Amino acid sequence: MKALILCAGKGTRLRPLTFTIAKHLIPIANKPVIYYSLEKIKNAGIEEIGIVVNPENIKDFQKFIGNGNHFGLKVEYIIQEEPKGLAHAVWISKDFVGDEDFLMYLGDNLILDNINPFVEEFEKDTNLQASILLSPVKDPSRFGIAVVKNGEIVQVIEKPKEPPSNLAIIGLYLFRKTIFEGIKNIKPSWRGELEITDAIGYLITNDFKVKGHIIYGWWKDTGKPEDLIEANRKILDDSYIKHEIKGVSDSSSDIQGRVSIGENTEIINSTIRGPVIIGKNCVVKNSYIGPYSSIGNNVIVENCEIQNSIIMDNVKLLNLPYPIDSSLIGKHVQIVESEKKPKAMRLVIGDMGKVEIVR
Ligand code: G1P
Repeated sequence: MKALILCAGKGTRLRPLTFTIAKHLIPIANKPVIYYSLEKIKNAGIEEIGIVVNPENIKDFQKFIGNGNHFGLKVEYIIQEEPKGLAHAVWISKDFVGDEDFLMYLGDNLILDNINPFVEEFEKDTNLQASILLSPVKDPSRFGIAVVKNGEIVQVIEKPKEPPSNLAIIGLYLFRKTIFEGIKNIKPSWRGELEITDAIGYLITNDFKVKGHIIYGWWKDTGKPEDLIEANRKILDDSYIKHEIKGVSDSSSDIQGRVSIGENTEIINSTIRGPVIIGKNCVVKNSYIGPYSSIGNNVIVENCEIQNSIIMDNVKLLNLPYPIDSSLIGKHVQIVESEKKPKAMRLVIGDMGKVEIVR
C-alpha cells in the first residue's frame, strides 16, 4: 500500500503565516503539522508516500522532508498546478499510485487515534473498494457527510445544508484503483472543483462496497489560527512531549509540571508552568511561560508573560505590559517596548497581519 498526502492548498485563512510557509509545515509543539501524519503513516507500515504540492510550496516541503530518507520513508512530490480539487489531486497521482491500494490523507488534518485498525480492516476485507474515516461532529454542514447503514456508507454529500447525519468525512480515505473510475465519471462541483466526495458517491451508486470507519478521538482540520492553537494545546496535553530539561535554569527559576527545554536554552528568574515546550538556544528572563505554550528555537523573552500560544523561531519579546495569550507569532517577529518619543506604537506588520491590543 502507498500513501498520498494532499498539501496543495494555499492556506489563505492562515495568512500572513502562509505567505512564507505552507500551512502543513507550521509547528505544533515545535514540530511541523505534516510530521504527525508521516509518523501515523509509517506506523501503519506504509513507506512510499506521494506528497501533492503546489508550484510555490514544493520548495518548502523539499527542505523539510526531502526524499523522506531521514524518516525511513520514500517520498515523491507531485505538483498540482491549479487548485482543481481533491479528486483532481488524486487523478494526477495516478502514475505514482500505479496498481496499488492507497491511503489518502489531507495534509492539514491532525488526528490522535492510531490509524492501524483502519488500514488493517481494509487490507483484510478485499470486497471493500473504499473505506472512509468518519467522526461525529456538531456542525455537519461544514464537512462532507456520510450516511452509514450496518457499517457501509450508503450516501455521501459534500457540505449539505440539511445534513442527513452528523458523521463527517475527516480527511483520511483508503482506496483501491476503482476510485480512478469514479473520478473519471464526475464533473466539477459548484465550487469548480472535482470533489473526492462525488467520486466516492459514484462508487456507492455503482454498488461498490464502501465502509465507514468511525473514530471518537480528537482530530482537527487545522485551517485557521484558532485551530492551530487548539491543536497545540491538545498535542501538549497528550503527553507528546516528555519532561526533559536539556538547557539550564538558575536557582530563582521555578519549573513546574511537564516541560521540555532544548539544548543551550537559559531560564533566568522565571516560572515555566507546563505543559510547555521551549526549543534550543533561547533565553527566558524575568518571565512567566504558562501552560500550552510552544516556543521555537533562538527565541528571546524578557519581562513577559506568555500562555496558550505558539511562538516560532527567532522571535524577540521584550518588556511587554500585558500577557500574550492565544497567539500565533511567526518567525523573526519582534514585539518590544520602546523608550523612543513620541510615546506611541510603531508597527511594521506584513499584509494581513492581525494585532489585538489591550487598553
Ligand atoms: C474537504 C472535503 C470534505 C471533508 C473536509 C475535511 O473539505 O471536501 O469532504 O469533510 O475536507 O477537512 P475542504 O477542506 O476542501 O472544504
